[in-house]
Amino acid sequence: MSDHIHRSHVRVSSGFSEIASDYDDAVRFNVEGAQRLVTSIPPGEYDRILDVGCGTGFSTRAAIDRFSPSHVTAVDPAEGMLEQFRARFADTTDVQIDIVKADVESMPVPEASYDLVISSMAYHWFPHKWEAAKAMARAMKPGAVVAILMSGRGGEQAYRDVISNIEPINYRWLGAFDGNLRNCEEMDDYLTGAGLEPIDVWMETRTRYVPVEAYMERMRVVAGHMIGDQSEADVADYVAKIEAELRRRSGPRGWRYEFAKLFALARKPG
Ligand SMILES: C[S@@+](CC[C@H](N)C(=O)[O-])C[C@H]1O[C@@H](n2cnc3c(N)ncnc32)[C@H](O)[C@@H]1O
Repeated sequence: MSDHIHRSHVRVSSGFSEIASDYDDAVRFNVEGAQRLVTSIPPGEYDRILDVGCGTGFSTRAAIDRFSPSHVTAVDPAEGMLEQFRARFADTTDVQIDIVKADVESMPVPEASYDLVISSMAYHWFPHKWEAAKAMARAMKPGAVVAILMSGRGGEQAYRDVISNIEPINYRWLGAFDGNLRNCEEMDDYLTGAGLEPIDVWMETRTRYVPVEAYMERMRVVAGHMIGDQSEADVADYVAKIEAELRRRSGPRGWRYEFAKLFALARKPG
């Protein structure tokens, strides 16, 4: 792994650790997304579940509620998110939950041992997407299902248009959209490249209207680590410029933006 990639990966997980206590309030769409991802999984017996990029545990909660597994392994590299996760499940006794602080590619989980692998709103942050799919596939039993939800290509264009005109230009943040977002064909390739058989891969694009402050808060929580290592004053100045521009471009219903969610379900042959 190059040092550059390694550092940006560490920045992602430490960024999520810093905002962990605000995450649940700011991203209600992620809660809904996790629930819908789990709802879309074909009916079946899923007794051992692996949640990759489990965060504060929305997706884990949804999977436990629907499938009543006896065992869940929850993987995430961000200690702050795992703290919230532990708090969420502190009183849960009817399922064994193993919490593993690790990156998807190097997660120390047993091979061919899970009936279901889920990953909700985390795949876009994985720096090696081919390897991530392979790591998830290795953990699956033959016949097991993987269910992935990630940010899709085409979303957030209005925001990209704004930040591409805010100086100094944040090339890293602009580049992150292309580096992170994927379409159905690309996801299909990752899955088949990992030896999996796609069952259903689809994208939903929604147009949302939100108050500017709500959008700014969401961006702070999910992508604050992309702003960079500037001084606090420079960050404040940069963020104020973005906010002013969003207000200038907003209409009576607030800031309008498009968000694309990519869902994927696949099965391991056997
Ligand atoms: C937006 S949160 C989603 C959390 C949760 N699955 C949910 O549905 O709310 C993304 C999570 O992915 C984790 N993540 C980022 N990079 C990762 C990686 N390389 N391997 C595993 N998890 C990662 C972050 O630490 C964060 O907790």
